Amino acid sequence: MRSALLYLVALFALTPSNLAQAQSAAPLATTPPMGWNSWNWFATTVTDKDIRQAADLMISSGMRDAGYVYLNIDDTWEGQRDAQGVLHTNDKFPDMKALADYVHGKGLKLGIYSSPGNKTCAGFEGSLGHEQQDADLYASWGIDYLKYDLCGFRSYMNQLAPSDKLKQNELMRAAYEKMHKAILKTGRPMVFSLCQYGFDSVWQWAPEVGGNSWRTTGDINPTFDRISLIGREQAGLAKFSGPGHWNDPDMLEVGNGKLTQDENRTHMGMWAMLASPLLAGNNLSKLTPEVTSILTNRDVIAIDQDALGKQADRIYAEGPVEIWSRPLSNGDVALAVFNFGEDETFLRGISLHLDQAGAAHGWKAHDVWSGRNLGKIDNDYKFSLPRHASLLLRLSR
Ligand code: GAL
Repeated sequence: MRSALLYLVALFALTPSNLAQAQSAAPLATTPPMGWNSWNWFATTVTDKDIRQAADLMISSGMRDAGYVYLNIDDTWEGQRDAQGVLHTNDKFPDMKALADYVHGKGLKLGIYSSPGNKTCAGFEGSLGHEQQDADLYASWGIDYLKYDLCGFRSYMNQLAPSDKLKQNELMRAAYEKMHKAILKTGRPMVFSLCQYGFDSVWQWAPEVGGNSWRTTGDINPTFDRISLIGREQAGLAKFSGPGHWNDPDMLEVGNGKLTQDENRTHMGMWAMLASPLLAGNNLSKLTPEVTSILTNRDVIAIDQDALGKQADRIYAEGPVEIWSRPLSNGDVALAVFNFGEDETFLRGISLHLDQAGAAHGWKAHDVWSGRNLGKIDNDYKFSLPRHASLLLRLSR
């Protein structure tokens, strides 16, 4: 409700010419954005060619048709500003408009990256003092998504006395709001993704500054320790997330590093339970059938993309075992049991806690990872979970 009001307020701040365009635009990110981002695999090496190839591979792998439509270029595309302050791309990206046309021609959308500071995290040109100019540039290229990474702005904030945390935070919020207004003014719909690692309880104010998603944590990496730590830390954040505005525990590492099949599934399932943006970050040219089947599993995606947009809550935790659940729009319930522990074959009768999940004895269960219908289920359902594995069920009356 509040974000709808803010959207209206923002609309009235627009000029008549772009007002009509913005008004006609459908609301953005009504379900968590899905796509692929260059950072986790390519980091600073990403080029125009890699993005074109990623576009092709998203189609041939079936990822686009499974819902992964945003193709996001992360940091290191930026060149220098000219005498008029207009930012140019660097040699790795000779023609961003042509690249956007290519990506759009494949039925995908193109995302880009910047910082409210004068420098990005990788030390490239940021948007400080050039917000409108940059937003206009993105719109002229046909950009559909902006990840806005605090980074260089931190040194700007730190010019204020460290004791003046309040002012520093105000400055940070204003910087995000400024870019959001600049985007609105272009009249081109762009998903606005805040990346400031969860500072200042960002989930409490990000929708007010136009955020469609906001990182809740520092950077992910392709180790199960980091992934499970981030996932578990999301407990309690469900109430801040919903259609148009999502908690973002960072991009997927599915298929990266040395993650096992069970770890990839646990990662994917947890992010789906969290109604997280699903931004794959793997090497698409080396997709294995196992990784493809995890990323494109229709049942896990349906949980993530459920229209109700209700993020999961943790309903049970004992040692390394946790149970999370979320209600779904058709009255079903998604329930996940995670074994974050190291025991090789973790086997014991833990109750499924169906009542706490909003389900009940006798509901039917569909096992997302095996694809099997388990029939009627009750709290005593016996199953085994190897180390780092999880059970993901869709329960229906
Ligand atoms: C980090 C950010 C990463 C990536 C990187 C690029 O601050 O969290 O996701 O964008 O900067 O330099």
